[in-house]
Amino acid sequence: MKKIKIHKPDDWHLHLRNGELLKLVLPHTVKDFGRALIMPNLIPPVITTSDAESYHREIMDALDNDMDFQPFMTLYLTEDTDPRDVEDGIAKGIVKAVKLYPAGATTNSSSGVRNFSKISETLAILSAKNVPLCVHGEVVDGKVDIFDRETEFIQRVLTPIHKDFPDLKIILEHITTQDAIDFVLNTPDHIAATITVHHLVINRNHMFKGGIRPHYFCLPIAKREVHRQSLVKVATSGNPNFFLGTDSAPHTIGAKESACGCAGIFTTPVAMAILAHVFENQDALDKLEGFTSLLGAEFYGQPPNPSFLTLKRESVPIKPSASISRNGLEVSIFDPEFDLHWKVID
Ligand code: DOR
Ligand code: ZN
Repeated sequence: MKKIKIHKPDDWHLHLRNGELLKLVLPHTVKDFGRALIMPNLIPPVITTSDAESYHREIMDALDNDMDFQPFMTLYLTEDTDPRDVEDGIAKGIVKAVKLYPAGATTNSSSGVRNFSKISETLAILSAKNVPLCVHGEVVDGKVDIFDRETEFIQRVLTPIHKDFPDLKIILEHITTQDAIDFVLNTPDHIAATITVHHLVINRNHMFKGGIRPHYFCLPIAKREVHRQSLVKVATSGNPNFFLGTDSAPHTIGAKESACGCAGIFTTPVAMAILAHVFENQDALDKLEGFTSLLGAEFYGQPPNPSFLTLKRESVPIKPSASISRNGLEVSIFDPEFDLHWKVID
């Protein structure tokens, strides 16, 4: 029998939504994660410090008394963001990061940024305060192939931002390509990347196996197998600049299985079981705790969670549920299409 005990993980990129969907998904994060960086792409988005305070309150109200969980709030950067409000949110301790969505790049990103020169004042404040800019790294350009949008973004947008603000802490979120890995490897240590669970498991073929498979559609879109293999290699390497951000993004089954299905994969309930599987296959179970529980915390200047999580390897495969539901809302859980043997036992 094999067991591993690690500091309780953190999820440094999470979509919790609001209302009923928040109530449905939140307990699944709380079970396995001590803290999470909460994405601000609600409708309407979380733009101001006051928006972040209300959203924080809604999340705290949705927690049961015995749930121990800290949501770290982010602001959604727009061209009209007031830099003084960002500064105020940082000073109050409510704003832990600012999220840059290129306008139109992904779900609920229409209020994002088109003209990157309009956000300079805010970037200067983030740099001075040592607060990270979390970046959805894809260009929005119909002429650029969807599979090349991350690479193009690094060249066109990210490299100039890094050049103009060399001390700015940047996290390139949910990376999917060798190019993104290389960018992080070739820049200083205050440039990092998050990696999702699903991008460690699927390549672009998964979306089209035997038909169109909307539950494997996310943004950035999964790339070729060589990129997936590179992601696995770097995630399991122990390099401190690559850590877990699940980008677990719940949409109802109806919103996914549609003529124009939403991007997003809900992985939270199986995230730790899948990661243990991936790290075990690389003979790197000793690196799992760093990836899930230590390196991201360190990057955000936080101590590891004081509590622990134990995973046990069962010889008989565990059978996770296919979905979760509440009051008529049903969300499908990511299926890695391989047997899972690891189980969170406490
Ligand atoms: O697949 C994604 N889903 N990618 C994103 O960038 C946003 C997310 C969502 O909010 O559903
Ligand atoms: Zn996301």
